[in-house]
Amino acid sequence: MIYEGQAITVTLLDDGIAQLNFDLQGESVNKFNQTTLKELHEATDAVRANSDVKGVVVSSSKDVFIVGADITEFTETFALPEEELMGWVLKANAVFSNFEDLPVPTVTAINGMALGGGFEMCLSSDYRVMSTKAKVGLPEVKLGLFPGFGGTVRLSRVVGADNAIEWICMGNENRADAALKVGAVDAVVEPEQLLEAAIDLVKRAGAGELDYQAKRQEKLDAVKLPPMEQMMAFNSAIGFVAGKAGPNYPAPVEAIKVMQKHAGKKRDQAIEIEAKGFVKMAKTPVAGNLIGLFLNDQALKKTAKAYEKQAKPVKQAAVLGAGIMGGGIAYQSALKGTPIVMKDINQAGIDLGLNEAKKLLTKRVERKKMDAAKMGDILNRIVPTLSYGDFKEIDVIVEAVVENVKVKHAVLAEAEKQIRDDAILTSNTSTISINTLSEALERPENFCGMHFFNPVHMMPLVEVIRGEKTSEETIATVVSYAKAMGKTPVVVNDCPGFLVNRVLFPYFGGFAGLLRDGADFQQVDKVMERFGWPMGPAYLMDVVGIDTGVHAEGVMADGFPDRMKRDFKSAVDVMFENNRLGQKNNIGFYKYETDKRGKPKKVVDEGTYELIAPVCAERRDFETDEIIARMMIPMCLEVVRCLEDGIVQTAADADMGLIFGIGFPPFRGGALRYIDEMGVAEFVALADKYADLGPLYQATEGLRKMAAEGKTFF
Ligand SMILES: NC(=O)c1ccc[n+]([C@@H]2O[C@H](COP(=O)([O-])OP(=O)(O)OC[C@H]3O[C@@H](n4cnc5c(N)ncnc54)[C@H](O)[C@@H]3O)[C@@H](O)[C@H]2O)c1
Repeated sequence: MIYEGQAITVTLLDDGIAQLNFDLQGESVNKFNQTTLKELHEATDAVRANSDVKGVVVSSSKDVFIVGADITEFTETFALPEEELMGWVLKANAVFSNFEDLPVPTVTAINGMALGGGFEMCLSSDYRVMSTKAKVGLPEVKLGLFPGFGGTVRLSRVVGADNAIEWICMGNENRADAALKVGAVDAVVEPEQLLEAAIDLVKRAGAGELDYQAKRQEKLDAVKLPPMEQMMAFNSAIGFVAGKAGPNYPAPVEAIKVMQKHAGKKRDQAIEIEAKGFVKMAKTPVAGNLIGLFLNDQALKKTAKAYEKQAKPVKQAAVLGAGIMGGGIAYQSALKGTPIVMKDINQAGIDLGLNEAKKLLTKRVERKKMDAAKMGDILNRIVPTLSYGDFKEIDVIVEAVVENVKVKHAVLAEAEKQIRDDAILTSNTSTISINTLSEALERPENFCGMHFFNPVHMMPLVEVIRGEKTSEETIATVVSYAKAMGKTPVVVNDCPGFLVNRVLFPYFGGFAGLLRDGADFQQVDKVMERFGWPMGPAYLMDVVGIDTGVHAEGVMADGFPDRMKRDFKSAVDVMFENNRLGQKNNIGFYKYETDKRGKPKKVVDEGTYELIAPVCAERRDFETDEIIARMMIPMCLEVVRCLEDGIVQTAADADMGLIFGIGFPPFRGGALRYIDEMGVAEFVALADKYADLGPLYQATEGLRKMAAEGKTFF
């Protein structure tokens, strides 16, 4: 043994080959935390000091190679003053360069995931041998960053500027064949042969059969590409990538600029350029928000895991109602492996639900994501029926019939009689209180909400809604079923609209007020889309369905009359009165025509302005900031109320619910992080500025207290 640490050991094998092995104690994966970085430096020095060592093989004893830097340490590190942070990055880089400069040949044996810093480790060695099972990549752009341990420098020299730009700007995980093709790795072998192959390679390099020094030198020199071609490659990539990433995600374009800047430089100078760029990115709010998002997601997964431990198995599910939602739920359950009975009261419903599933599966087959036999298997997991028959096998039922309390009461009570005493009933209601629905039931402890979003196969969120009488075992089982369906469950407590719709309708309230005061719905849509929403509020209303929107708005107004009851007739009301229901009947705020591919295409309808004129002030331009404030304040404040009322457990749950449920702009991290970023006191001041717009703009006492005490949500 040459070196022994918490994360790294170095053992001397036969023939002077040292095996530098990553195995971070107490963790399921290897990652570059402070300890690992420090140990890599020490281990490298220990190897250098040992004259018996003729070559180094780097390996991992975990399933992964190294998943990347330890993101949990980012928040603290990136908060350092810029100069200190720069010092930190350069010091980390010195660790990798120290390893790269060892006087003997080095080979990494990539057995599993080697991402971010993990792959940068691989790039620091002379050769890379990769298992067919492994994946490599530099996904830093997904966190609003780019590689900062020499990745932009080494990769552009190893695989050329074009490939490096693609890998770094896309941030994809790459399979072994793709990695070999561009030369990111030198050999690909079956997992069983990996270590042997790596040892063989390092021996051949040591014996002079392979010129490892020349190979290493390529990484130490400038990028090999004539200046003219370089300029072309970088400049054309900047335009293309900027268009793809959009103005809210600066990291990919900055990565290209940095690579362009250091292309003509030797390693150490190039690394300094990269480090400077990295620090600049690390200091952007976008990076802070995306890192926060990642951490929130981890927290959510941890909560779900704890629930899964208490869950009962769900081997067979059922869905009542084969409409838009029922069909989607059946498809998703079957696709992910849980067989599901799909019951409706009329054949037309069943046909619709099954056709929807068939359509989605056919698309997968066409895209070669699945073969016909698999499609057949999945369809067989959906058992359509018009009568209950034997429901004793069913573990969980999702009720997805029409949104009507009376109908739901009847259906739920009837279903409860068909199932085992320990089976679980859930409702996919979007607005009706779970406590109200449970009144029809004999075993309300076995009942909760399971709120999917439309379209079910696309939307990641499932709200699991706890009623007053719901047991924890019920929640745990439903969380685990949602996970099994490939969804992200967030557990919330019962209230009108639960979390997502409760905060969405105040946002629509903001929209109603803007139109009343003369804002142009098209301007509002444009501003909110530029803010980062996938669609603006008018377009969103059209997609949701104006009738559905008006109905839900009514429920919310009844639930929270003090602030959600409007004292004026809104443009949306006018749409509804005129049977302009949105996409479903091809006319709402916009008109919908069918494009060449058969998809609805949104077109402007001047008639809309005429129609809503009687309830709107004369049309005028609004400042962008005013539109954003008037739309976002009511939503953000409602999220604060949800947290204060215990509807959600944590700020992370709330923000993730919005991102996964309604497409809150991810680079903003969520509503509460948006408040944090603005500053709680500044946010309260902004709300006060609009206070005369009504109670939707009224900051809570809790928030004022946070502002006074200088507290934040994260
Ligand atoms: N559409 C959405 O965007 C959306 C999103 C989230 C939640 N939801 C909720 O999901 C539920 C269903 O909505 P949808 O849009 O799928 O409605 P839908 O009208 O498309 O489908 C309802 C289906 O239920 C069937 N049905 C009615 N009574 C029944 C009974 N007694 N037994 C079995 N089937 C019966 C109908 O025949 C119909 O096929 C509602 O509670 C709705 O609020 C809808």
